[in-house]
Amino acid sequence: MSMAAVETQLPGDRISKRNFDKLARFIYDYSGIKMPSTKLTMLEGRLRRRLRATNHATFDDYCDFLFNHDGLDQETVYLIDVVTTNKTDFFREAKHFDYLQTVALPTIANSGVRTIRTWSSACSTGAEPYTMAMVLAEFAESRNNVSYSVLATDLSTDVLQTARRGIYPEDLIAPVPRDLQRKYVLTAKQPGRREVRITPKLRSKVGFARMNLMDEKYPIGELMNVIFCRNVLIYFDKQTQAGVLNRLCACLATGGYMFIGHSESITGFDLSLKQVSNTVFQRI
Ligand SMILES: C[S@@+](CC[C@H](N)C(=O)[O-])C[C@H]1O[C@@H](n2cnc3c(N)ncnc32)[C@H](O)[C@@H]1O
Repeated sequence: MSMAAVETQLPGDRISKRNFDKLARFIYDYSGIKMPSTKLTMLEGRLRRRLRATNHATFDDYCDFLFNHDGLDQETVYLIDVVTTNKTDFFREAKHFDYLQTVALPTIANSGVRTIRTWSSACSTGAEPYTMAMVLAEFAESRNNVSYSVLATDLSTDVLQTARRGIYPEDLIAPVPRDLQRKYVLTAKQPGRREVRITPKLRSKVGFARMNLMDEKYPIGELMNVIFCRNVLIYFDKQTQAGVLNRLCACLATGGYMFIGHSESITGFDLSLKQVSNTVFQRI
C-alpha cells in the first residue's frame, strides 16, 4: 500500500474474480450468507468505503491486506456489516404477534411458567424484539404472576448499535397500534425532529448481544419459551439452515414456540417441532 495511491482511489477499479471468490468463501464460512456472483456490483459499491477507511487504492490491495496481512482480524466486523441485509419493521408479519398474544403466551403461562423467556435471534435494528416486548408487557400486565425477558441478538454490530439506542424515524412506528405507541414510544421534544424513542422501561427489558448463528453453541442460559428466527434463514443454504434450526431447537423448552419468516420453511428437516400455525412451530 502506498500513501500516495491512497489519495486517489482508482476510478473504475473492480474486484477480480479470484478476489471475489475469496471474499465470498470467507463471508459464507463466517456468516452462512450466500454470495452468488450476481452480488459482485453490490459488494464493490459497499466495500469502496472500506478501501478509503483502510487507505487502500484498489480492491487488489485491500484483498491482499485482508488475506495475506491479517487484515481480517480488524475488518471482519465491517465486512459483515456491509453484506448483511437488515430490512425490518415493527409488527412485521403481524399474524405472528396475534398468535403470540392469543395462543402462545396464554399456553405457556397456563403450563406454569412464571418468567417467559423469549429470543429474537436475528434482531436487526430492534423493531422485532421491541415489538415482542410490547406484546409481552401487555400480557404480563394482564396476569399478575407472570414476568418476561427478551434476548435480542444479531451478527452485525451496526444494527445492534441502533437497536440499543431505540431511536427510530417517526414513520417506522406507524404499524404500532396507537394505544401501544402511547405506552411504549416517546416522541422527540423538539418540534420538527421526526424521531421517536422506545421508552426506557421497555428498553430495559430487552438485552442485546452479538451472536453468530453459525456458532456451534448458543450461550443463552436457560431454555427459551419463544424463539423468533425470521427472515434470516433465506440467506443460508439448506445445510446451514438445518444446522441453525437444530441448534435453535436445542435452546427451546418442550412446548416452546418457534417463529420463522413467512417466506421460509422447515420442510425436509428432521426437527423436534410440530407445526401449529403458518410458519409457527411448537417443540415436542
Ligand atoms: C432481514 S433482517 C431480519 C430482521 C428481523 N428478524 C425481521 O424479520 O424483521 C436479517 C438479519 O439477520 C442478521 N444475520 C445474518 N446472518 C447472521 C448470522 N450468521 N447470525 C446472526 N444474525 C445474522 C443480519 O445482520 C440481519 O440483521
